Amino acid sequence: MRYDVVIVGAGPGGYACAIRSAQLGLRTALVEERKIGGVCLHWGCIPTKALYAATKLLHQAGTAAEMGIAFTPPTVDLPALAAWKESVVTALAGGIVTLLEKGGVTVYPARAELRADRAIGLSTGETLEAERIVLATGSSPIEIPGFPFADPAVWSSDDALALREIPRRLVVIGGGVIGLELANIYRRLGSDVTIVELLPEILATLDLDRRTVAGLKRSLAARGIRILTAVKATGYVPENGGALLATEGGEPLRADRILVAVGRRPNSTGIGLERVSVSPDRRGFVAVDAGWHTTADGIYAIGDLVPGPMLAHKATAEGVALADTFAGEPAARIAAEEIPQAIFTDPEVASVGLSEKAAKERGTEILVGRFPYGALGKAVGMREPDGFFQVVADASDHRLLGVQILGAEASDLIGEAALAVRSRMTVDAIAHTVHAHPTLPEGLQGAAESALGRAIHTANR
Ligand code: NAI
Repeated sequence: MRYDVVIVGAGPGGYACAIRSAQLGLRTALVEERKIGGVCLHWGCIPTKALYAATKLLHQAGTAAEMGIAFTPPTVDLPALAAWKESVVTALAGGIVTLLEKGGVTVYPARAELRADRAIGLSTGETLEAERIVLATGSSPIEIPGFPFADPAVWSSDDALALREIPRRLVVIGGGVIGLELANIYRRLGSDVTIVELLPEILATLDLDRRTVAGLKRSLAARGIRILTAVKATGYVPENGGALLATEGGEPLRADRILVAVGRRPNSTGIGLERVSVSPDRRGFVAVDAGWHTTADGIYAIGDLVPGPMLAHKATAEGVALADTFAGEPAARIAAEEIPQAIFTDPEVASVGLSEKAAKERGTEILVGRFPYGALGKAVGMREPDGFFQVVADASDHRLLGVQILGAEASDLIGEAALAVRSRMTVDAIAHTVHAHPTLPEGLQGAAESALGRAIHTANR
């Protein structure tokens, strides 16, 4: 079969690219060997957020007496929780399948490999030909020596999301985003959780200010999560159905389950790249130009497969922008600083643009403003007084360079900041925008006012 566009991989990058390509009138095929929706929908963003919401409710119900509301201690029915999480995933997956069908995308449930003649061979024996091929094959969890996922005592993030049991003691290797989010969920479910991070700081791969990370660590510690930094997990020996973990830089640790969350690797092997002379780099990423073109004619790559943050919304933005170029539009610029990031812990962390540290490193004279959650009427009434908003602006023209939010609903609140950073707004514009009272976004306004030395609800420095 011949198509205008064939996309390999139906995660948030691939399926969005397919829908947009078909919308533009291109004959489009999408090949997926596992499930439509990819890791984000089935083993990542969505199931974790379903569990985040459910376990947040569990935590709130368990501590509501402070608000004068008493529950008998809430209990967890693990199979029912797993079924509910699956129902969320199933409903959303059904939606995407319908969108693809209605959009006129032909879906091939198969494994695809590039051939030397630039055709695509499918595991079903079929062959697809296309003017343009988009590789959107995503990434997979990295396995580290000494911790085989084949051992039931060792969990990948997929195992953690399967919700087969609540381990009494869970050791999480890796203080990155996945490690923290799953640590938070299992702590709320009642596990005794220890995070082991190799580097001197958690979340070290992200551009977050020390104050933000320190605030998060304090809150996680207050919720009973132990964080060990500058400690390397080197191996383990089985012990009573669990494991005794050996570490470099720390004590041996006893665990019933070990969750390995040390990063993800692009799925760039086994897809025939070598046959079209595309060589991934040492870490498996495929290099592309500003229009997502690989070094092979007519072959493009997007999402986790290419360098940049491994985020679903970044993949989607690339998929849509790439499809637009197929219709003759110039490649939309997706600047790294304009991509927001949200971490679903308790409290949440979200950021967009430059941190205070990164802005200073660039030699820019900056204005910094902060506003505490504790000064927001809404936050106090929600029993969520922990955290703060931070804005960083260029001192010369007041243009907003970056925002970090540590606190309740930060993942939703970052939307306004992302729009402001992308639109090159000034902190004055945010300070002068009337925000409804009492709401959490007032915190962004408060931080902008504070950057200008004209805060009303917090002391000016
Ligand atoms: P990551 O790269 O964020 O963190 C992995 C951590 O493991 C690093 O801090 C590293 O120093 C540490 N580490 C490596 N080897 C170790 C060892 N032997 N002992 C102890 N620590 C060790 O990777 P993560 O958390 O697996 O996430 C993968 C990707 O998925 C990231 O790019 C992340 O942005 C993305 N993601 C984003 C989410 C979100 O935006 N909410 C949610 C989940 C994943």
